[in-house]
Amino acid sequence: MATSSRAFGALRLLENSAHRTIACIPHFRSLISPINRRSLLQSTKPSPPTSSIPDFAFAFDIDGVLLRSHDPIPRAREALSLLQSECIPFILLTNGGGKPESERVAELEDKLKIPLDISMFIQSHTPFADLEEYKGKTILVLGGDEDRCRFVAEQYGFKSVVVPGDIFVQHSEIWPFSEHLLNHYKAFARPLPRPINAASPQDSLRIDAIFVYNDPRDWGLDATLVLDLLLSQKGILGTTSAMNGKTNLPNKGYQQDGQPKLYFSNPDLWWAAKYHLPRLGQGGFREALEGLWRAVTGGKGDVALGKEIIGKPYYKTYEYAEKRLISHRNYLFKGRDEMENVPLKRVYMVGDNPESDIRGGNSFKSPLRTDWNSILVRTGVHREGEPAWKPKVIVDDVHDAVQWALQQSKWPK
Ligand code: G3P
Ligand code: MG
Repeated sequence: MATSSRAFGALRLLENSAHRTIACIPHFRSLISPINRRSLLQSTKPSPPTSSIPDFAFAFDIDGVLLRSHDPIPRAREALSLLQSECIPFILLTNGGGKPESERVAELEDKLKIPLDISMFIQSHTPFADLEEYKGKTILVLGGDEDRCRFVAEQYGFKSVVVPGDIFVQHSEIWPFSEHLLNHYKAFARPLPRPINAASPQDSLRIDAIFVYNDPRDWGLDATLVLDLLLSQKGILGTTSAMNGKTNLPNKGYQQDGQPKLYFSNPDLWWAAKYHLPRLGQGGFREALEGLWRAVTGGKGDVALGKEIIGKPYYKTYEYAEKRLISHRNYLFKGRDEMENVPLKRVYMVGDNPESDIRGGNSFKSPLRTDWNSILVRTGVHREGEPAWKPKVIVDDVHDAVQWALQQSKWPK
């Protein structure tokens, strides 16, 4: 028993080091006795604590794989601890969000009782942090609890961030049906950088881009603001573009007048929450908005809603995730000479949602020629039947997913 408590003492030590993931220092592994390692490795036979660098890694979805709403899914901790003790790199890649990465990592560490680090953690909106062009502009951020997503955007470096509550508190007439929420919004609303002043548009609030960071809570207010902005002149709230409906113009003149660009961070129509049936996600809000857009642009469906969507299954998110995985892996094996001879060859994408995790893992053509293999678990959105996107394998839970992948990669070597 002494061995493992010393091992976990070392873990605590490492936890306090700057980088709070387990650095794959060979002697760390020697602190875990073969007995402990065997129990962690289950079916695979223990091997001497040589320090072979794995040419594979993992990307884990969160909701429906590691957590069910706030509760850890059984054996999730064992699966991740096994990889940490074997120095097999992994990242967490979720379409969730709504809080700063550091906060969610701390919550996950607390729930899963393993050390994690924001360098290995990607939320749906994390790639927005790279959109420098808007950091000096005024953006509207939707979704999440209260104004938490404003806080996230500010942490990414966006200087002027407005949330729907700010607009509603100052102009509640803009959406007459959320009066009952006025006090809720007053609790966190901030003064607007400019009032809505339709009489003098040049002095009126102008929004340069709209970001949906997380699942909107007040679909009515949020959809109204997005429509007002997409039908406006140059993103000036309270105005309407004279180009709208001009059939001689592209897209019938809609979104042709400097309106703000619209960004969604998560396409999930359904997600696995506490309820026994999947719940509508951010994709549900977008579909509803698409329906409204169709109605307000003539009802024929011949006017596109110009937007950019990231999140799984989209390429940009997988490209971003792979870069993160590579840099995390480089950190884990820092100073290991043999590292240059062991490029990352395979990534196992473990998810519960065929539409986002499996479709994304299957269709991602890595610029580094890494071979992404998708594994579908039955602890979330997908339960039974033939999934729309075919994974390499369907297993009961994340622990089985890891076991299957280790066998595929013939680990330990
Ligand atoms: O809102 C989060 C949900 O859409 C899915 O999250 O972790 O399963 O990608 P996740
Ligand atoms: Mg999921």
